[in-house]
Amino acid sequence: MTFKSKIAYTIIVLIAVLTVLFFWVYQGKEEVYQTVAKVMPTHYNGEQFAGSETCIACHQDIYKSHIQTPHFKTSALASPETLKGTFDSSAHGVDLIDAVAKIEQDGEDFYQIITSKSTGKVLDRSRLDIVVGSGVKGQSYLSFNDDFLTQLQVSYFTLTDDFINSPGYPNYKFVRSVTDNCIKCHVTFAKNGDFKGNTNIYERESFMYGIDCERCHGPLKKHVDFRTGQLDQNNIDPVVRIDSLARQLKMDVCVQCHSGLRAIQIKDNPFSFVAGERLDKYAKNYNFGRTQAELDVHGNQYGLLTSSECFKNSDTMTCTTCHDPHQKQRGDAQHFNSKCIECHSSPKELHTAQDFNTSQPTNCISCHMPLFPSQTMMVKLGNDNKETSVDIRTHLIGIYVDGVLQKRR
Ligand code: HEC
Ligand code: HEC
Ligand code: HEC
Ligand code: HEC
Ligand code: HEC
Ligand code: HEC
Ligand code: HEC
Repeated sequence: MTFKSKIAYTIIVLIAVLTVLFFWVYQGKEEVYQTVAKVMPTHYNGEQFAGSETCIACHQDIYKSHIQTPHFKTSALASPETLKGTFDSSAHGVDLIDAVAKIEQDGEDFYQIITSKSTGKVLDRSRLDIVVGSGVKGQSYLSFNDDFLTQLQVSYFTLTDDFINSPGYPNYKFVRSVTDNCIKCHVTFAKNGDFKGNTNIYERESFMYGIDCERCHGPLKKHVDFRTGQLDQNNIDPVVRIDSLARQLKMDVCVQCHSGLRAIQIKDNPFSFVAGERLDKYAKNYNFGRTQAELDVHGNQYGLLTSSECFKNSDTMTCTTCHDPHQKQRGDAQHFNSKCIECHSSPKELHTAQDFNTSQPTNCISCHMPLFPSQTMMVKLGNDNKETSVDIRTHLIGIYVDGVLQKRR
């Protein structure tokens, strides 16, 4: 080889190495962001999702208010914008029997680090990939290990603005696999490696975070195509008009997530149900045998509401009688009380003067839908065994005296 060709050879090798290095680094970067859905996924029923941004053009007001709701914010990629809590050195670790778990920030990324108490050795370092919960009550963290999804040991508890051992976790180092049965109520869509949704292997690109339009309305690419003239106008618009459905079908849109765990999957995958179908064909609760009094207030607004006299004695009451699904309404007592009065037009006559001898005679929900501590959203704080729980408004509308439901006369 001449000197010249040696140089040429070296340059070629160098370029080759740099090219390989570039793609390797670039791919590494790709991996970091691959959890963002690039191409909208296709639902199990063959319909394609359009993504809520395509709705803006025609349903701007609904879109604008929807993105403010806890539904929309109930899951996201973990980032400084989506994570609640303080991650500096003042944040205290979660004390386990044999270790301490802490969340630490590293640039834009966050890691859970579990350190052994006896040896000081780092036992686990997992990145926070997905955050679950808008933070009304708290947030949990999910982490990908390759395509395997797990829930981390630490959660954030809003009431105390602090980190806790995740609800239901033992007080030693533990890893919980995340199957569809966990995330089905917190994302719009995700494709599991197994049709029944029983594994924790996911197609990371298939995730649609948050409870978005198409979680309630079903995948709507065809509706968008139809309305933008890209679909033959002889077709019919496939969009389901929820407000014209029968009462139970209308409720089922909400009930898929607000009736307790509904852990028995009778048919298909946990994401298969779409608006307009009968939910009972797809999933059932295993706590059917429970008496009303035992129905927990966490997540089972359906069971509680349907046990109420208001629901049983009216033909029209559904979740959307009181809730606008596109609005953030927490704390708007005036709105909710106005709904009571639509059916109970002269509340004065319903009450003895004594009952109304209160500073807030018109705050119907404070007496008839009182706050109760949740039995499932309960946490032990620190080392004392005192339990603190979140208060949830019961949907068992009724007459309460000292927190006890009075039997109907
Ligand atoms: C190009 C305009 C356009 C786009 C884009 C569009 N829509 Fe529509 N949508 C309409 C029109 C027009 C109607 C019919 C309104 C009516 O009949 O009152 C409609 C009706 C609907 C309805 C039924 C309303 C009812 O009466 O119950 C829903 C739900 C809906 N759209 C959701 C969506 C969602 C979700 C998206 C985004 C994925 C979307 N739309 C995108 C124009 C559009
Ligand atoms: C059957 C549906 C369902 C399943 C399954 C479910 N959740 Fe939830 N989750 C809810 C609902 C509904 C709420 C809102 C609380 C309520 O009912 O008032 C909630 C609340 C939460 C919150 C608090 C959110 C906030 O902003 O305060 C977190 C965190 C959470 N869930 C995490 C999880 C994790 C982790 C799993 C899996 C192990 C899971 N959930 C499984 C329905 C579900
Ligand atoms: C939590 C479930 C849920 C989500 C999320 C949701 N919707 Fe709806 N939407 C409903 C229900 C339920 C109705 C019917 C309301 C009724 O019965 O009065 C409805 C009605 C509508 C209607 C017709 C009535 C109206 O208010 O004009 C349109 C259009 C619509 N939704 C579009 C959207 C768009 C666009 C998004 C996302 C930006 C969205 N929805 C997100 C549940 C939802
Ligand atoms: C895909 C599951 C899912 C569906 C469908 C769903 N919800 Fe929810 N809902 C949730 C979860 C999860 C939360 C907790 C959100 C959070 O704070 O992270 C929630 C929270 C709420 C809240 C509390 C909001 C707040 O301000 O804290 C209300 C009210 C509610 N849902 C009503 C409804 C109604 C009404 C429907 C039907 C139109 C419905 N949901 C459909 C899962 C669902
Ligand atoms: C869709 C109509 C409707 C709405 C909305 C409604 N109710 Fe009722 N409610 C009824 C009917 C019907 C009954 C049974 C007849 C009766 O006792 O007046 C009832 C019964 C009651 C009872 C007696 C319960 C018992 O166990 O004896 C109370 C208390 C009550 N409602 C309070 C409320 C409050 C508070 C609200 C608002 C959060 C509300 N209702 C919203 C229709 C409604
Ligand atoms: C009679 C009116 C009424 C009906 C019907 C109703 N809700 Fe509610 N809901 C309320 C009120 C009032 C609150 C408390 C709002 C607040 O905290 O500001 C509430 C709160 C909630 C919350 C938050 C719970 C909490 O304490 O964090 C959820 C979730 C919810 N409703 C879901 C539903 C679902 C699902 C249905 C149908 C099965 C339904 N609601 C039907 C009046 C109603
Ligand atoms: C300070 C607590 C309190 C407030 C606020 C309150 N109620 Fe009541 N309500 C009661 C009690 C207690 C009863 C049982 C009847 C009695 O002893 O007067 C009752 C009874 C009722 C009944 C059943 C009457 C019957 O005989 O079947 C209805 C319906 C009702 N209230 C609706 C409302 C509505 C609507 C509002 C809001 C405008 C409201 N209440 C505000 C405490 C309250």
